[in-house]
Amino acid sequence: MSRLRIGVLISGRGSNLQALIDAAAKPDYPAEISLVVSNRTDAAGLERARQAGIPHRVVAAADRQTFATETDRLLREAGVGLVALAGFMRILDTGFVEAWCDRLVNIHPSLLPAFPGLHPQRQALAAGVRFSGCTVHFVRVEVDTGPIIAQGVVPVLEDDDKERLAARILAVEHQIYPMAVRLYAEARLSIVDGRVIIAGHEAPEPAALINPSEPFASAPR
Ligand code: GRF
Repeated sequence: MSRLRIGVLISGRGSNLQALIDAAAKPDYPAEISLVVSNRTDAAGLERARQAGIPHRVVAAADRQTFATETDRLLREAGVGLVALAGFMRILDTGFVEAWCDRLVNIHPSLLPAFPGLHPQRQALAAGVRFSGCTVHFVRVEVDTGPIIAQGVVPVLEDDDKERLAARILAVEHQIYPMAVRLYAEARLSIVDGRVIIAGHEAPEPAALINPSEPFASAPR
């Protein structure tokens, strides 16, 4: 079986990169990480790549265009078929996004289209939503937009702060990113009228989530 070669772009901690590394370590996973690119020399994720024996490069170009040209060249040299942004904190050049259109995915810690941009967990707490979560999506030029592949939902609790909510969401990110990349690698995703259709899509269980849970809602007054 030939595995899809993926390139992962990071800027920091790299826990989503690690989730992809761990998934790809399983023999039946249909993708492998061929290259990790960081825009920062101090990204902890670079060490994760090193430990996993994955080629990794820093492209610290100051301007957006040079970053895009150099990164594009490295990805093509590595024979990459899918680029996964994983905590990549730099806005990508429009030409790069267009060149990799439908072969470029991102993970964002909110239920898009709610709370795009910076500090989505803080935005969720400020809005008082009862659920938040994470989204894997194809990347389009507008930040945190694009056809949605997968989402995971977590409850927001009354005593949450940004860190607690972020940690709860992150645990789900680590599940859905490898899953979404698997679906892509298995060629099960198609984009129709801006929506992702998944071949063999399974409806999730349970069918509905309610927060607060019902016993609390029906407690004696
Ligand atoms: C994650 O929450 C990701 O969704 C967001 O930035 C964070 C990166 O975390 N885009 P890590 O570097 O993968 O640990």
